[in-house]
Amino acid sequence: MTPDVPAPAEAAPDVPPDAPAEAGEAPRLRDCPNWLYLLREYEALYRHGSAGGSQAIRTHRKKVRDTLSAVIAANPPVLARAPAVKPVTEHFARALDLGERGAMQGMARALREIRGRLTWEYGYERVPRALARKYAYCEVLGPRGPVLAETLVLGFVLFAPTTTYPQHSHRDIEESYVSVAGAWSENDAAVYAPGSLILNRPEHEHRITTGDLDPCLLAYAWTGQRERLAAPGMVLTPSRRARAARAG
Ligand SMILES: [Fe+2]
Repeated sequence: MTPDVPAPAEAAPDVPPDAPAEAGEAPRLRDCPNWLYLLREYEALYRHGSAGGSQAIRTHRKKVRDTLSAVIAANPPVLARAPAVKPVTEHFARALDLGERGAMQGMARALREIRGRLTWEYGYERVPRALARKYAYCEVLGPRGPVLAETLVLGFVLFAPTTTYPQHSHRDIEESYVSVAGAWSENDAAVYAPGSLILNRPEHEHRITTGDLDPCLLAYAWTGQRERLAAPGMVLTPSRRARAARAG
């Protein structure tokens, strides 16, 4: 069965499918209101709410919102990336539906308006077969677009129910995840509900599991240097068994 292709948003002028991919000819953010409204949701998310008393989280939130505000003010090009689906995007409609009922409803509604323009991908050269059916992510802003930015990446990760996203870390990249829909856990430490934010410092090893019944949708932000964000070189940390086998 082929995955459903999400329906394109109706009557929205944002980035026609045949728009040029080159930055010089691409439409600008202010000509693409649905992308702009989605970014405003991110901006509000990182501006309001609490850092829970954590100085590290406060600093990260400020870095994300200050960078994002500057990007929005610069009215950057919006590149036309080819929409793509993955098997897990069969769960996307359910994730949006759940998101629209909870604390992150503004973000979920804004995301629904661009659902047909998202480029879902794996990010890994080799994806474990089980994970290939249960995970994908899409970027909305960053060095590769669609909204061009140098030192910030914003995107969404979607997981099917009962997924284990294997242990990994990000070199030179600081990452935060905010739940939009579904329940999930990181490193078996807690259960996070929509609206919760978790910070992963560079090199921090993390492994994610998701609840049994519903998909899980996370908004994420990466901060770092442009070169690293453009080519993050994502790798899963080898399991203990694989490391032992490799060591002989
Ligand atoms: Fe991560």
